[in-house]
Amino acid sequence: MNGTKNINGVRDPRPILVTGGAGFIGSNFVLEWFAAGKGPVVNLDKLTYAGNPENLATVAKNSDYTFVHGDICDGELVKQLLERYKPRAIVHFAAESHVDRSILGPEAFLRTNIDGTFTLLHAAKAHLDALEEEDRARFRFLHVSTDEVYGTLEPEDPAFHEETPYAPNSPYAASKAASDHLVRAWVHTYKLPALITNCSNNYGPYQFPEKLIPLMIANARQGKTLPVYGDGQQVRDWLYVTDHCKALMAVLEQGRIGETYNVGGGNQRSNLEVVTTLCALLDELLPDSRFRPHQQLIKYVADRPGHDRRYAIDARKLEGELGWRAQESFETGLRKTVEWYLANTDWVENVTSGAYQHWVQQNYGSRETTGAAAGGTK
Ligand code: NAD
Ligand code: DAU
Repeated sequence: MNGTKNINGVRDPRPILVTGGAGFIGSNFVLEWFAAGKGPVVNLDKLTYAGNPENLATVAKNSDYTFVHGDICDGELVKQLLERYKPRAIVHFAAESHVDRSILGPEAFLRTNIDGTFTLLHAAKAHLDALEEEDRARFRFLHVSTDEVYGTLEPEDPAFHEETPYAPNSPYAASKAASDHLVRAWVHTYKLPALITNCSNNYGPYQFPEKLIPLMIANARQGKTLPVYGDGQQVRDWLYVTDHCKALMAVLEQGRIGETYNVGGGNQRSNLEVVTTLCALLDELLPDSRFRPHQQLIKYVADRPGHDRRYAIDARKLEGELGWRAQESFETGLRKTVEWYLANTDWVENVTSGAYQHWVQQNYGSRETTGAAAGGTK
């Protein structure tokens, strides 16, 4: 191990245990963690359709990196890992994360997001009890959650803050809300030194192309339809993934135990705005594409059932207490993202072969087209 330092500047050889580190945000976090020289990582990931070891190819041979292929619902495995590696923190990303999949098949969401979080909390409590006093004082459990637990906003409503009551609307959001409540109970009842973050929509490299931005880039590049749900006026608050990862590090290292921190980019955009901006970027970056102008590919399709209208995050607590600021604007982050996907078409092709085609048929096959956007075809 090459001189890794902890926050106090003292070399700390103990790893952190990351769950779901082969997914979108988890893999970006592991890459950022190593880039910042913060020490060893043990990554526990089940490698569902959303997990891809290729995301971490650049660190796979690093002696500070250990990959464990396994399920967070496997209590015996989690217990053994904690006993063996004695991590100084658990950073919990592993989840089923796609709202549309939760509507078509909620079971996996309840299992991983609720039972899996319970399994980790239960094992973490036993691990904490077995630690020496100094290590116990430093141990942290960071639960990575979502703004969807707060429900939906009207156009003029203030942004979600940490005291906004929970009102989850989709099976995904309900399962994440349940997991947040479990974490809260473990802090309150068992004094587990846990923290929760609730973040808005992320985008950036390695996001699976079932989510809005990478789906639209992948489809547009191939001249496929760009399916906009409902009227396309739903609003999301976009944050570049690296900014989320930096916020997580700040909360892990300086956050107050038992607290929740909202994370968001202050970039509210309607879905239609996002898609038309992507089309304009693709027109510029692919001047020879026969699908230009890409906007002609936009089609309105049947809405997502129970579709939340608007999310927006008030991140003033995180900014004020921990000094975090988003580095990327939506414009710079989106350009980087499009450039990354255009430069990594092999990655996209690998993850969209096989089972992905079945998902596309399942989610979009029965959605009738309801019209075309301005500039699009009927
Ligand atoms: P993702 O779907 O890209 O990745 C999830 C990862 O978890 C995958 O590597 C998958 O293999 C792994 N996993 C799933 N079930 C598992 C299990 N039972 N055991 C072990 N590993 C398992 O998700 P993401 O977008 O990277 O989201 C990561 C976390 O951040 C989630 O908890 C999500 O709720 C939260 N979050 C996501 C966003 C976003 O915009 N993507 C925003 C806020 C919060
Ligand atoms: O807000 C944080 C959440 O953001 C995370 O907790 C979730 O894990 C993450 O998936 C994301 O949830 P959304 O449902 O907001 O993301 P998604 O990319 O699926 O959709 C973004 C918006 O775009 C949403 O209003 C639905 C719409 N959409 C999505 C797809 C896939 C379309 O109009 N067409 C599509 O084909």
